[in-house]
Amino acid sequence: MNLTTKDELLSRFLKANNEPISGQQLAEEFGMSRTAIWKHLQTLQEEGYTFETIKKKGYILTSKPDRVDPARISSFLKTARLGKQVHYYDECTSTQTIAHELVRNGVEDGTIVVAESQTEGKGRMARHWESTKGKGIWMTIIIRPKILPHQAPQFTLIAAVSVVNAIRSLGKSISPEIKWPNDILLNGKKCTGILTEMIAEMDGVQALLIGIGINVNQKLEDFPDELKDIATSLAIEADEKIERAELIAAILQYLEKYTDVYLKLGFEPIKVLWEEFSGTIGKKIKATTLREVIEGTAIGITEDGVLEVKLDNNEIKRIYSADIEI
Ligand code: BTN
Repeated sequence: MNLTTKDELLSRFLKANNEPISGQQLAEEFGMSRTAIWKHLQTLQEEGYTFETIKKKGYILTSKPDRVDPARISSFLKTARLGKQVHYYDECTSTQTIAHELVRNGVEDGTIVVAESQTEGKGRMARHWESTKGKGIWMTIIIRPKILPHQAPQFTLIAAVSVVNAIRSLGKSISPEIKWPNDILLNGKKCTGILTEMIAEMDGVQALLIGIGINVNQKLEDFPDELKDIATSLAIEADEKIERAELIAAILQYLEKYTDVYLKLGFEPIKVLWEEFSGTIGKKIKATTLREVIEGTAIGITEDGVLEVKLDNNEIKRIYSADIEI
């Protein structure tokens, strides 16, 4: 993991479970003077972390600011590849834009870009994505699987299944459902959007940029008026605050697992999971594409993640891109 010394120190405190650690012990572990250790603690205090000094025992971490910095993510991380390199921003234009730059400069598989807020968050179909500061997960995961360009859309579905499982693993009383192609809903309102971009040549994918936006800790009043009826957050639905870094680590763990499953066994096991979590399959839907409006029953997805809809006259239509109303 690309942690700075200050982050390593923070990580040590996060894992210490409120046990005091002495300045001497830290100095030995980190191979630096006690003064240098103290200076790092000062910087962490400036960032909002607070430490208490217990006489003759050392320091304990007494409070943490609500941030998803690399040390916080690392304290929950159980992956082999994903999230080992974290590019963290208090504010950025869009984590997708930064990920594109990183790929141009040759970045490692599994690198993630995380921001507390985005000024130009990008949604699908060139829409704006609302990214309220410190309330959500605004993250892009860069992966470099050995696949062909036509397989890339399947990774949006792999990501959706991963996010649903990660949310479920938090053990709150919420049941996320996937709305084709890649929205995740709670009680019929959108809490997550996924935007997958690809950098590829004809004969292979160089990188996939999986952008995930999750409304985590917003209250209803945090949403702009135009979103209040259609969007929700995990905290609103679970009625409690969620630890964002823990959720990020869980998403990375599932994404790593399902990527490996996909590369070994193909799309079928992912399709089964996707259909299980889907709130679209089996329902009457109205799909508005660029050219037409299609009404019928959603019957499944194909190998390419294309939605199949059965019309009243039994004709089956394949939908590649559309807005869906259920
Ligand atoms: C959608 O339209 O549903 C997709 C929204 C994707 C939003 C995420 S937030 C992190 C990443 N950075 C962006 O600018 N967009 C994606």
